[in-house]
This record gives sequence, C-alpha cells and structure tokens, in this order.
Amino acid sequence: MSLIIKGGTVVNADRSFRADVYCEDGVIKAVGTDLDTPGDAEVIDAGGQYVMPGGIDPHTHMQLPFMGTVASEDFETGTAAAMAGGTTMIIDFVIPDPEENLMAAYRKWRGWAEKACADYAFHVAVTWWDDSVHADMGTLVREEGVNSFKHFMAYKGAIMAEDEVLYNSFTRALELGAIPTVHAENGELVWQLQRKLLEMGITGPEAHPLSRPPEAEGEAANRAIRLAQVIGCPLYIVHVSCRQALEEIARAQAEGSRVFGEVLAGHLLIDESVYRHPDFDVAAAHVMSPPFRAKEHQAALWKGLQSGTLQTTGTDHCCFCAPQKAMGKDDFSLIPNGTGGVEDRMSVLWTHGVTTGRLTVEEFVAVTSTNAAKIFNIYPRKGWVGEGADADITVWDPAATKTISVKTHHQKVDYNIFEGMEITGLASHTVANGKLTWANGDLRAVRGAGSYVKRPAFQPVFHALEKIARANVPTAVARS
Ligand code: URP
Ligand code: ZN
Ligand code: ZN
Ligand code: ZN
Repeated sequence: MSLIIKGGTVVNADRSFRADVYCEDGVIKAVGTDLDTPGDAEVIDAGGQYVMPGGIDPHTHMQLPFMGTVASEDFETGTAAAMAGGTTMIIDFVIPDPEENLMAAYRKWRGWAEKACADYAFHVAVTWWDDSVHADMGTLVREEGVNSFKHFMAYKGAIMAEDEVLYNSFTRALELGAIPTVHAENGELVWQLQRKLLEMGITGPEAHPLSRPPEAEGEAANRAIRLAQVIGCPLYIVHVSCRQALEEIARAQAEGSRVFGEVLAGHLLIDESVYRHPDFDVAAAHVMSPPFRAKEHQAALWKGLQSGTLQTTGTDHCCFCAPQKAMGKDDFSLIPNGTGGVEDRMSVLWTHGVTTGRLTVEEFVAVTSTNAAKIFNIYPRKGWVGEGADADITVWDPAATKTISVKTHHQKVDYNIFEGMEITGLASHTVANGKLTWANGDLRAVRGAGSYVKRPAFQPVFHALEKIARANVPTAVARS
C-alpha cells in the first residue's frame, strides 16, 4: 500500500520544487528531498518529469440519460479513460427530470457511480421548484456533501430552469452555503431559432450553431450574474464558450462580484467550421451546447484563462456514438448534444497552453486541478501535492508526444473531437488514492476503486459575502 515517486519536480499552483513524494494508505505522507525508500514501496522514477496534483474535471456526464438516449461512456470506463490522461477526479451531474424527486435522482446517480475507478462528486441540477426541492437541497448539502447546484437556462421543454426557479434556487443555495452554477444560454431564443431554421429547410448540423448564437449565451450569462448580484450569492458559469459571456463575467468581477468561469478544452481549440463538414456523422459528432464558435472566440477564451477571468477547465464529457447522433438525421435539434474529452483535456491544455507560453506550469496545475478544488471546497485534500493530501497524482512527461486518435483512445465513444492533434506532454503515470492506475501506457484502473467525495458547504467566499449582506440589510422607514 505504499509508493514513492522519486527524482521529479513537484508542481503545485503556488510553486515548483525538486522533491520525492511518499504515499501510504491513499494519502501523501511525505514530500521532501532524498526520502528513504521503504523496502516494500513501489518506486516510480520521475526523473526529468513533473509531479502534479491529479487533474480534476469539474464537468462530466457519464451514462447521462439525455435527449432520448443514454451517454455511451459510463462511470467505470469514463474514470478509467480520465486516468489514462492524468485526471483523478470528476465532478459529474445529477439531473432530475422536472417533477422528479431530487433525493431519488441523487440516489440513482450514486448507484450508477459505484463502479467508478476514480473519485467523484456530484453537482445536483435544480430543474423545477416546490417545497420538496427546497427541503431536499438542505438534505443534500447537510447530509450528502453536495455544495453546488446546477441550472440549465437552455433545453426548453425538458430541463430548462425559468427565472423563477433560478431565483428560488439561488436564494436557497446561498442560505445553505452552496454555489449555484448555470449553463448559460437563452433557451427561449434557441427554441425559436431552431423552429425558424427548420422552417427554412436547414435541417442539418450546420443549423446547430446558427440556433445558438453567442448573443444567446451572453444574455443568459448576464441574466444569471445580475440575479446572483441582487441575491448576493456567488455564481459559477459552466462551459463559457464565447467572448460575449466572457465579457459579462469580466465586468461582474470588476464590479466586485464572485463569479467563476469554466472553459472546456474543446471550446479553446475547435471552431464552428466542423458543423459544415460534408459528412453528417462528422458534423453531428461535434454537436454539443454551447456549440463550437468562430475563431475570434477561441482567442478570447485563452485570454480569459490567462487573465484569471476563467479559473477552471473541464470537458463536459458526454459521449454519444454515431447511431445515437443519427437520431437527428432529419432534424438537427434532435441530435443528442454532447462530446467527449476527459482523457485528452490535460494534454491538450499542456500542448496549447504551456508549450506555447500562454500558461506557466503552475498556472496549468491551477486551471486543471487546484482552482476547481478551491471553488468546490475540497482543497487541499484535492488539488495539492503536500503532506496529508489524497494521493491523487499525475507524473507528467513534458517531452512525451502522441497523436490523438479514436483508434488509440480509451474513451467509450466512436469519435474523438481532437482526432489527429499532435500533442506534447503526457501523463506517464497516474496515481489515484495511492495506487498506480496508469503506467507508461498500461491502464490498471479498478472498477469500484473510486469513492464519493463529500464537499463541505460554505467555501471561503461565503464568509465574505455574509459580511457584505449584513452591512446591506434593507430597513424600513419609521413614519409617524
Ligand atoms: O451538449 C452538452 N453540453 N451536453 C451535455 C449537457 C450540457 O449542456 O452540459
Ligand atoms: Zn429557505
Ligand atoms: Zn451545459
Ligand atoms: Zn454539461
């Protein structure tokens, strides 16, 4: 049960230094130079490599029932693929149908996730509102370690949350010390544009981005931000894909608001031309929401990540194979939305972030692991290589190269949105809960070895917001 990583450079979000790392019983027991090697310890030679906190992907949807089908990647295969790419924890989503009891949905997802090979947690979506939802949010936070609630401002007629739900849920989340998160797209506008494009006879995947313009995302981001500002809660905006949403976040931050932004590896690298591919299967394979955007948006998103306006990177890993995508052969609005990437996120970020000089190695650690751990209040247990932290570690070979391909990836999906991308920087070894799960191409993930991670409420920002709220309690005027 013990393991030592020798001769590498430890990289945390704050600094890098030469040290060995000794792990026992799933925990990092010592970090220091020239540590003794116990006789029974497994030894990993990290010479010339970086020793970093395992990646945390804060946005995945394993085996999600969605748009009339179920995502092909499940919790076992998805977490195994994640570890092949250096990611040791995912935060997935419980998504109850409208009227579905939150606790029942939560238990269902917990059951599905028992086979996960890596640690996991859940954001819980609020898709409707009544007293039971108010009560269940309390149970989830206080007893189940849920500290974030998700709201879909899109997907009208399915899981879309109207402003009334947003108001009630954000208010409840604030009193519980949980962070509201949003998928920001104006669902009414998307719905109307979908109908209009279909009426015009534009039924293929090329209509997908046309029905979900950046303005629809910017409007929803702004609406969620303004609601959060009035309510006094923090806000986390998932998969920011365009300049318009980014600008709303930057402005809110400049106004002093606690708004966090997440960007997906795909949105940083892929542009909207994919939707005009002559092969339906290729174009449909890229259908996800928000869609991939014109090139100006990728440049803006990189700057958002560099400036700290965006703090986390995810994948929205939500896989559908070609026969599933074909459900929308004659109507693009029926193509199941989602793409993969959980295995490739860190390498793609390293290649296009660190090797290009956009990010330092410490910033890479921050945006792939530490910032998510801090925002979702599991730091320094996760997101840090230090004594007492969980032994979730990636040994990173900055010189290793490969070409991403569906033929060699471990993800359970028949397409890779990064197909053909030449990358530099790979996980040579992944350690999860103190066990070696990936070693130079050998995937040793174990079904069920991952654990559910409880996340405490009231991350530090809430204490600051409480003081602001106390200083601004509304008062009545006493009149005679
Ligand atoms: O297209 C996507 N992103 N599918 C998964 C659900 C969501 O919106 O995150
Ligand atoms: Zn209440
Ligand atoms: Zn979404
Ligand atoms: Zn998602």
